[in-house]
Amino acid sequence: MIDLKKIYNENCIDTMTNMSLESIDMVLTSPPYDDLRNYNGYNLPFEKIIKGLFRILKKGGVVIWVVGDKTEKGSETGTSFRQALAFKKIGFNIHDTMIYYKNNPMPTTGNRYHQHFEYMFAFSKGTPKTFNPITEPTKYKGLANMKNRGKEGTLNYKKVERTKEKKAGNVFFYSVGGGISTKDKIAYKHPAIFPEKLAFDQIRTWSNEGDIIYDPFMGSGTTAKVAHLLNRNWIGSEISTDYTEIANQRLKEYVKTNLFSI
Ligand SMILES: C[S@@+](CC[C@H](N)C(=O)[O-])C[C@H]1O[C@@H](n2cnc3c(N)ncnc32)[C@H](O)[C@@H]1O
Repeated sequence: MIDLKKIYNENCIDTMTNMSLESIDMVLTSPPYDDLRNYNGYNLPFEKIIKGLFRILKKGGVVIWVVGDKTEKGSETGTSFRQALAFKKIGFNIHDTMIYYKNNPMPTTGNRYHQHFEYMFAFSKGTPKTFNPITEPTKYKGLANMKNRGKEGTLNYKKVERTKEKKAGNVFFYSVGGGISTKDKIAYKHPAIFPEKLAFDQIRTWSNEGDIIYDPFMGSGTTAKVAHLLNRNWIGSEISTDYTEIANQRLKEYVKTNLFSI
């Protein structure tokens, strides 16, 4: 039995153990980059966490995994890629590798370009059951050439009438930082929040009203707040008591309804 609209102040592995099989519609989360290895070694908890996610996710559910690499001893760690391949190995599809592009990143020194983006992987359990794409106006009118590649590598073209709106691309541009990522001052007591707009876009795309959204690394409560505002149910886990308190404080003014259980 697990309560909805609640952040469990515990290891997400424990929360997931108490969840029923295939009870969650969507996961939106951002793990502690490269620090997972601080918890009992790298492989064990990460593997356990993603197997837990696979178990609790409904068929057609999607995990949005926002992640970047640290630079250590002169090299990027490659953790994002390793994690993506690990998700695939245990049965997820790597459905879409999206980019979370920061319009105004922290400037860096040294001989690398400024780090402008993080990955936003969409891992799906089979074919996604929900896709409400963000659209944008089509620039040109009339017929368009759509192409797909046949088995022998030949390109096939098909004329398709353009619609007024088309699916957006998979690079998402966000401004970040104080007063921009969120208006909730308390959230900035957490050092690594993602922007509310990112949560809005992803939750709207991969879920419907009434669905249950889970964030195993809830941090300051961004996923919970946005899921709530979009009329979704939500559950969170957060291992730090301090961050759980910050998130609960932040959510107080938005979430006034009672708990439900599943
Ligand atoms: C990158 S932050 C998430 C920030 C969040 N997206 C936001 O907007 O505030 C990752 C969080 O995961 C928490 N965490 C780390 N390991 C955990 C675990 N095993 N179970 C639950 N939470 C964990 C950390 O304390 C941290 O607050």
